[in-house]
Amino acid sequence: MPGRGRSPVERYHDRVAGLYDGIYDGDLYWEAVFALTWRNILRHLPKDQATPCLDVGCGAGRWGLRLVRSGYPVDFLDISQKMLDRTADKLGALGKPFVHLDCLGAPSRPAVGVGRPGRGLLWRASLDDLCALPAGSYGFIVGQGDPLSSTEKPGRAFKEIARLLRPGGVVLLSVDNRLQGIHHYFQAGDVSGLEKFLRTGRALWLTDNPDERYVLHMFTPGQLRAMCRERGLEWLGLIGKTVLPLRRFKELLADPEKRGTLLRLEESLHGEEALLANAAHLEFAARKG
Ligand SMILES: C[S@@+](CC[C@H](N)C(=O)[O-])C[C@H]1O[C@@H](n2cnc3c(N)ncnc32)[C@H](O)[C@@H]1O
Repeated sequence: MPGRGRSPVERYHDRVAGLYDGIYDGDLYWEAVFALTWRNILRHLPKDQATPCLDVGCGAGRWGLRLVRSGYPVDFLDISQKMLDRTADKLGALGKPFVHLDCLGAPSRPAVGVGRPGRGLLWRASLDDLCALPAGSYGFIVGQGDPLSSTEKPGRAFKEIARLLRPGGVVLLSVDNRLQGIHHYFQAGDVSGLEKFLRTGRALWLTDNPDERYVLHMFTPGQLRAMCRERGLEWLGLIGKTVLPLRRFKELLADPEKRGTLLRLEESLHGEEALLANAAHLEFAARKG
């Protein structure tokens, strides 16, 4: 693409796109997290199956495709073309139409003639510049796997997401939990690093290739509430994923009976404020008035 190099976050996700589903398949912990995630999506998903949905940071399409299979009209958005290609392959396999729209190749401006939202539009765009997408288009916006955390300007990205919501529309986003980042600095004995991290919430995604390293923004529950308040969104709630130590003890999930009990316990506790610090990820929902 002339005139524009790929950002580290694109390079990283382009590289892992082909492997992405396989990273999680068959992992007891991630399968449990995905089950909990889907149940939380169902809690917030509008009942009207004609509601246009947008999957932001869609990756290989895991959640948007589940919405498609549930009968919703869905568009997809990601900064990584390779991830969007994976999603396109899967839409094709389902016999669903799709259209690629690239907002990164040229200076961004409002897209014209894109028609109704939810027709399988595959937006290649960065969350912090969504000006090509028409305001008030979506009744449900989902972003799983923390795309807001890997956005250069998360405050601006959230403002853009709020703009895309229709009145009454709901946004459900997972983000990295700042309270979990604390351990890393203690383990490294890095007290000044800890102080800086707690002030800024910024950390580096440490991949082997320095060209793929990008800044991660980690959030506190209070910050997420404030972000929604600033945008005039009604706070619908927050969960931790996971508040029980399911990752450390994932072998317990191999037994169907124990798995059932643990997931039930996790769901009964995942909104408890006192337990949120245990969770690697926070997931919050808000509604536009
Ligand atoms: C961890 S993956 C999650 C993919 C998918 N949502 C899932 O849960 O399986 C994060 C995705 O967010 C995308 N992403 C990261 N930063 C982004 C940005 N600034 N704008 C749009 N997408 C972004 C990445 O390319 C990647 O596909």
